[in-house]
Amino acid sequence: MITDENPFRVHGVVTEDFFTDRVEELARIERTFREPSAKLMVYGPRRMGKTSALMQAIARHEQQGGVAFLVDVSTASALVDIANRVLEAAGRALGRKWRDAIGDFVSRIGLKLSLSPDATTGLVVPSLDLELRSSSLEDQRRSLGQTLDAVDAMARQRQVSLAIVLDEFQEIGRFGGESAEWHLRGILQQHQHVSYVLAGSQAHIIERMLDKGRAFYGLADHLHFGPIDPGHMAQWIDARLTSAGVKAAGVGAEVVSAAGPRTRDIVLVARQCFDRSASAGTADAAEVTLAVDDIVTAQGALLEATWMGLTPLQQNVLRAVAALTEGLTRSSSLRRFGLGSSGSTTNAASALVHAGHLVKAANPVGYAFDSPFFRRWVEQTTLGDVVRG
Ligand SMILES: Nc1ncnc2c1ncn2[C@@H]1O[C@H](COP(=O)(O)OP(=O)(O)O)[C@@H](O)[C@H]1O
Ligand SMILES: [Mg+2]
Repeated sequence: MITDENPFRVHGVVTEDFFTDRVEELARIERTFREPSAKLMVYGPRRMGKTSALMQAIARHEQQGGVAFLVDVSTASALVDIANRVLEAAGRALGRKWRDAIGDFVSRIGLKLSLSPDATTGLVVPSLDLELRSSSLEDQRRSLGQTLDAVDAMARQRQVSLAIVLDEFQEIGRFGGESAEWHLRGILQQHQHVSYVLAGSQAHIIERMLDKGRAFYGLADHLHFGPIDPGHMAQWIDARLTSAGVKAAGVGAEVVSAAGPRTRDIVLVARQCFDRSASAGTADAAEVTLAVDDIVTAQGALLEATWMGLTPLQQNVLRAVAALTEGLTRSSSLRRFGLGSSGSTTNAASALVHAGHLVKAANPVGYAFDSPFFRRWVEQTTLGDVVRG
């Protein structure tokens, strides 16, 4: 059947036919959802597909009669924001299941709440007083604690398997400090009727939080979230293209090799390939290179602004990582890319890792670009300045 709807989606989380694989990860997450008091830490690089898999697991858990919801910590700026998101999400998830739940839930919390109807579902959604946002950290911690306690009490009373996903949970330290991390640990440990999945992206922050003596040490089981098998991804792309009317033998493999390991990058290239080739009804490897170039062009202004915000040494480190096949701090590399000492080069590379532009990699260079599109932009736009060798 020929359709003009793109068979690939990159906006928001993907479900149904737009979602593929993650069989083992889904099983592991759903098992955690079903086991009261279980705790699982899901961690892996950005754009790998964690949130999509978590949403898929939530949908499946709800189909089986459970209750689960996700709270995104990354867009919160205060502990009260998290409490409010838990309230809203719990209100919606519980309200779908029991119309009488909200009043019950609200009366347990013992905090001043306002109630307003949700525009799409008509369900009443509770939220905390906005003034609490400027209250002391201690008060804010308490409201988060009371909110989560109320969810736990509710799960006990209704005997339902209830799960809370805290997505990008490592961000809690950004506005709550380490004391909020310890406080959260204390709450999570006490709850016997709710299971928790903590998901996070920033490896260096999460590793620090899991160190001995730190707040999340030994709290949860760990699920590392890596790439989808490249062979599976390649076949899935070919099949999706074909079913949408684009003949595409072998294009999937080309897409995966051009885009690297992150699921979103792969799907973005596949989506652009479809747009380029839908009218012709056939795609080949050359389309893939052009699709990557389209994406680099589309992101060009943003990538240029990023580049301009870096120090000259950081820019030279990026040039080196884009071009090198040997160690970044070898004396030949330092000379060729004008890097100065190996100490300052390593510091500049670390700053780039912290900023999310590079990742540490088990390759001879020691580093790789976080984004294949930024890598390509650096290659196309800035490598003319340095001697190729
Ligand atoms: N299992 C999957 N199947 C198909 N596409 C996926 C899958 N997982 C992720 N994606 C693609 O990657 C994008 C980003 O995924 P997301 O779940 O937001 O990643 P993360 O939470 O790890 O940053 C999605 O919008 C979608 O385009
Ligand atoms: Mg995510």
